[in-house]
Amino acid sequence: MTELPDTGLALHSTIRKGDSGGGTVELALVPVPVADPGPEEVVIRVEAAPINPSDLGVLFGPADVTTVRGAEGEHGPAILADIPDGLARLVAGRLGQAIPTGNEGAGVVVAAGSSARAQALMGLVVAVLGGSMYAEYRLAEAKRCLVLPEGTTPAEGASCFVNPLTALGMVETMRLEGHAALVHTAAASNLGQMLQKICTADDVPLVNIVRRAEHEELLRDLGAEHVVNSSSDTFMADLITALAETGATLGFDATGGGKLAGQILTAMEAALSANAPEFNRYGSATLKQVYIYGGLDRSQTVLTRNFGMAWGLGGWLLPHFLQRIGPEASDRLRQRVAAEIKTTFASSYAKTVTLREALDPAAVAVYAKQATGEKYLVTPHG
Ligand SMILES: NC(=O)c1ccc[n+]([C@@H]2O[C@H](COP(=O)([O-])OP(=O)(O)OC[C@H]3O[C@@H](n4cnc5c(N)ncnc54)[C@H](OP(=O)(O)O)[C@@H]3O)[C@@H](O)[C@H]2O)c1
Repeated sequence: MTELPDTGLALHSTIRKGDSGGGTVELALVPVPVADPGPEEVVIRVEAAPINPSDLGVLFGPADVTTVRGAEGEHGPAILADIPDGLARLVAGRLGQAIPTGNEGAGVVVAAGSSARAQALMGLVVAVLGGSMYAEYRLAEAKRCLVLPEGTTPAEGASCFVNPLTALGMVETMRLEGHAALVHTAAASNLGQMLQKICTADDVPLVNIVRRAEHEELLRDLGAEHVVNSSSDTFMADLITALAETGATLGFDATGGGKLAGQILTAMEAALSANAPEFNRYGSATLKQVYIYGGLDRSQTVLTRNFGMAWGLGGWLLPHFLQRIGPEASDRLRQRVAAEIKTTFASSYAKTVTLREALDPAAVAVYAKQATGEKYLVTPHG
């Protein structure tokens, strides 16, 4: 067993409430004990962990990221950002607590408990989902570690769960709920690119919605047949045509705010009624479903209900989906991700940063934009 240090650095986020219902969030590096593993546990030296939109939610909560500034924490460099008045109540459950951050990542097993399962992982590159990955060391249950195929680096395997399983989950949800094709928004995202590759491989018709011309090109280069641009004057007409051609009645919307989810339902209804044999005053009887699965647009969700009476709008979250399909089916998806981690599920990063560099306000200004191709990878050991 490698000699472990007594402590390792970890990135924690703490929200404190101010007088007017606003407050501040502090991100700081803190030394945390590196515990010896129990019989069924291992210690992972974390080598790479992505900064995904869901991580930004934990890191900054409802803070306005344009107010990020450097500060001095108890144990070294830190940053602060302001939470607008009235919004601290949204995170009442975590006020004053230092929350470990980093949903997923990969590293090398450097210490293992006495059980055969834990011992078998010694020295291997593994990926883990479950928080506390922006840290130099992470204690994990051996059964939660996904062993990456030989020759896979931690950087290649860092984004093994959140986006790959969600993209696969969309296609599985489509099958489970009896739809034949999909619509996806913010489609040039890291996840959107994986979804396009899955749909090409599995022969699933997919309508991609982007908001910039260069992203239409990006997706077509990946093999996309249907890409529509929400900034175009012909957006609704283009969307209706693509929906009529594909028969998509299930949508996944990453924006959540504004009109987009409602526009998809409207366009689905228009596509269905254009093909209907006769007029029905209640609209098409075919269920049109949109799941909001992200919050890229924080404004109100606006619906103009001109899509008949057979429709649904709901939330979709990866852990709920995995619970729904059960451990065996979840494991099947995980094994597909591991096998295709360098192809279908390959992620790319604009930059790698150490834990300290992740606290540079200039770096935050880039990675918190959640823009296409601007994802950062944290490499705790540099
Ligand atoms: N529910 C779940 O279980 C679950 C699991 C995994 C991921 N997600 C969600 O999946 C989404 C994609 O994640 P990712 O890691 O793939 O993201 P990413 O690579 O960081 O890309 C974000 C994308 O969102 C677009 N975008 C940002 N703000 C937007 C807005 N206001 N309106 C329209 N588009 C906007 C960006 O396009 P521009 O370049 O045009 O800005 C970019 O293409 C996120 O919303 C994330 O929260 C949800």
